[in-house]
Amino acid sequence: MKIKKAVIPVAGLGTRFLPATKTVPKELLPIVDIPAIQYVVQEAVDSGISEVIFVTGRGKDSIEDHFDESPELEQVLEQRGQKETLKGLRQIAAMIEVVSVRQKKPLGLGHAVLCARDLVGEEPFAVLLSDDLIDAPSPCLRQLLEISEEKKESVIALRRVPDHEVQRYGIVQGKQLGDRLYEVESMVEKPHPNETTSRLAIIGRYILRPEIFALLERAAPGKGGEIQLTDGIADLARQKKVYGYEFEGEHYDIGDKLGFVRATVAYALKRADLKKPIREYLRGVIDRK
Ligand code: UTP
Repeated sequence: MKIKKAVIPVAGLGTRFLPATKTVPKELLPIVDIPAIQYVVQEAVDSGISEVIFVTGRGKDSIEDHFDESPELEQVLEQRGQKETLKGLRQIAAMIEVVSVRQKKPLGLGHAVLCARDLVGEEPFAVLLSDDLIDAPSPCLRQLLEISEEKKESVIALRRVPDHEVQRYGIVQGKQLGDRLYEVESMVEKPHPNETTSRLAIIGRYILRPEIFALLERAAPGKGGEIQLTDGIADLARQKKVYGYEFEGEHYDIGDKLGFVRATVAYALKRADLKKPIREYLRGVIDRK
């Protein structure tokens, strides 16, 4: 069965980016001039997804508005003859069908995914986290979909991390099946680097079978008192095969300040209009140090 639906949880509080996120959802903070969430929705579209399900919370309505039409703004741009800007705005509204469901309390990522159960139904689905931007030759989600279409099982995105980053991620232990492919054996959420020999971190792209919902429903709160998606996937791996795929591409963790700045510089350097002045600016800054 072709996977058509993607869940994007956006109900987190974004405390690491306060005060910026006091009234502005962190998903709308821009990398150059495009909100983070738009890159992630674009990746879903480019991977063949046709419906996005946002799991939202209070103060997050502007995320849905971003993917809606904006008649007043469009009218002004039309009157001013700003054709390119107008075209860009219309493209965002036409990108994909968006539906949403509320997570009434931020009880964790696992709970957020569970909130999308009725909208997903009994079919495999994708999950994308907007904290993770992945610049890849073939969209990261597409890479996972190719594995899941072949194996008909759940697949999660993996990245090898250095020792000092182990504690920030869910870490997978698994059997290597191929160049980049693993069968997941166990998972642990944010371990101390001495607690595991594995350095394979789970990055926010997943293809999940619908059996995950029953497991999340039964899950007890894990680390931080939240219902963790990692715990649900670890349970799933005890019943069904779960694969991990070390995707090709550059990953930016923009939920973290350093990652956010790295992404801003890297994405600016990809832009024809900004590349030269940014390079000159960066050289100047380094020379002065
Ligand atoms: P994070 O762990 O990064 O939490 O969530 P957060 O609240 O967004 O940010 P910080 O850590 O306080 O700065 C990972 C993803 O899961 C979503 C978030 O929106 C983010 O996309 N999430 C998390 C929910 O939708 N609901 C939750 O209860 C928790």
